[in-house]
Amino acid sequence: MIGYVIITHDRPAKPDGFWFTIEKNAENVQIGSYIITEGDGQRIIGVVEDEEYYSVTDATSQYFSEIMASGGPSLPTYPIVIKIAKARIVAREPSLSVPPKSRWPVRFLNAKDAEVLHKNIPDDKRILAGFLTGSSEPVPVYYHANFLLGDQAAHMNIGGKTGLAAKTSYGVFIAQAVLSWAKKHGEPTAVVMFNVKRGDLMTLHKIPKNMKDAEEKIKSWAKKTGQPDKAEIYINLWNSAISTEEIDPFGIEVKYFTYPTDPYIKELDNAKYRYRLYRYGLNDITVHELLAALYSPHEEIPMTQVNHVYAYLETMKQMNRQVSFKEMYTHMHQYASYEPREVRDALSTRQPTPQQIVIRSRFNAPLLDNWHISVAGAIERRLGGFMDRARGAIDSTSPSCSPIKFTDIEPYKINVIQLYGLTDSEKRLVVNAVLREISDGLAVGESQIGAKRIMILIDELNAYAPKTKSPIKEQIIDITARGRDLQLSMIGIQQFASGIDTQVYGNCSTKVIGNSDIAEINSPLYKYLGEFSRIVPLLGKGELIIYHPMYASPMPVIFPVPLHEVM
Ligand SMILES: Nc1ncnc2c1ncn2[C@@H]1O[C@H](COP(=O)(O)OP(=O)(O)O)[C@@H](O)[C@H]1O
Ligand SMILES: [Mg+2]
Repeated sequence: MIGYVIITHDRPAKPDGFWFTIEKNAENVQIGSYIITEGDGQRIIGVVEDEEYYSVTDATSQYFSEIMASGGPSLPTYPIVIKIAKARIVAREPSLSVPPKSRWPVRFLNAKDAEVLHKNIPDDKRILAGFLTGSSEPVPVYYHANFLLGDQAAHMNIGGKTGLAAKTSYGVFIAQAVLSWAKKHGEPTAVVMFNVKRGDLMTLHKIPKNMKDAEEKIKSWAKKTGQPDKAEIYINLWNSAISTEEIDPFGIEVKYFTYPTDPYIKELDNAKYRYRLYRYGLNDITVHELLAALYSPHEEIPMTQVNHVYAYLETMKQMNRQVSFKEMYTHMHQYASYEPREVRDALSTRQPTPQQIVIRSRFNAPLLDNWHISVAGAIERRLGGFMDRARGAIDSTSPSCSPIKFTDIEPYKINVIQLYGLTDSEKRLVVNAVLREISDGLAVGESQIGAKRIMILIDELNAYAPKTKSPIKEQIIDITARGRDLQLSMIGIQQFASGIDTQVYGNCSTKVIGNSDIAEINSPLYKYLGEFSRIVPLLGKGELIIYHPMYASPMPVIFPVPLHEVM
């Protein structure tokens, strides 16, 4: 028991929230606490979003009472402190849009009450999102599968400070929750994750043997990371999630895709975790993907260069000729060396001059209608720089190599694609090519045996979908705009949502935010947080605020540290 709903002229109860009293002995009512109030056959669940302590005196009288006490033997007199809190309504039964009717009693939420919270999510659609904060026992919170993975709604965005918000860790937690749900209900679903930061996702398969082993490791992890109080909480959360079969961290397999020179390959030596090597030749990618790799996201690509690349590759296609990056480079060099008329004359004349004989022997590029020496030269330099810097995802000598195919993506597994160590250009190339392969695969229903639903996790989304005008983000915009019909969903992760393409961010129906600076949170993008914006700079690791279409309000939640991180 905490107190009672306040219905007064200065603090009226409203359809979306109400104030309530906090009795003297009610400890632990804080922002993020979940409460329930009942009366007249109605139940209302709320989350505390504001709290005030005050007394009926003013600052001046408090001051004088302290002065008087300090001059003599008497102690200062303490006026009664009035404590009240404001709850934002999250869920209710029956579904009504009216304020609570009278001074109903308010108490903390327990696991049994949580059914009201989830009544809009059928049992077989529940994907674990985390647990309610400030509760003495683990109370799970769910996402609705059809609103996270399509086709009703889709996509999630996770934001917050690097190292503090535990964004990547939450992405892994959600991946495991999604796959556990998929296995339980026989829904062929795959998760694809791009690894962009060192070993972040390259050791997902290295986890404790069982829960007993995990308990030991969580304890020493908590000690080592200076958060000893978290050990017991997280052990409880894991035990709860495993016993209810909401997550089975021990039963989820990981498949890795990486490039031959990746230094992290040695992490994958275990025979059980076989990996597949990938490499891309020019013929394995589209013109669009080539352009997105050659030019950086923030630059405006000259149309003359775009047209030349298109004309060249289109002509090659019509001639049924497959080219490697190197051959294309050589051809660009030829276009950059001779004027179109020079070449045409050299090829058509009956009596070539010595100079024309040289051209005839050197020029083997397809003869385009027209080109500009300087344009071809610019492309030649781009391509040359790209090939020089490429570290391993590119095979420049063979037209076709071993690209990642839709059928390589295995359902019920986390498919990790290693990007770390590649140049930014290569990363863009691989990401765009994989996204295309997946959307095409799902679109033609190639998935008789493969995945019917795919969730893609893109860390450092700002590099792939920046706010600035950029041709590289088209693929991602397309997925967020149309993916849900294909049951193709994306989890985008970045520090600042304000740096992300507005359409991409706007299409994410689920938003998650961890510790962030007030300057970022003041952006209009975070309006949905309401009063909660004030606690965002105070959130600890493992604490997040989620906003999902199934709930009337954003909700503070906690999640336990992923098990591969405690090793
Ligand atoms: N639930 C959690 N509670 C406490 N610490 C966590 C939790 N999940 C992850 N961490 C720790 O927080 C740190 C940052 O996590 P990470 O996911 O890499 O953050 P980000 O991706 O936001 O930079 C890691 O050292 C990790 O061990
Ligand atoms: Mg991260």
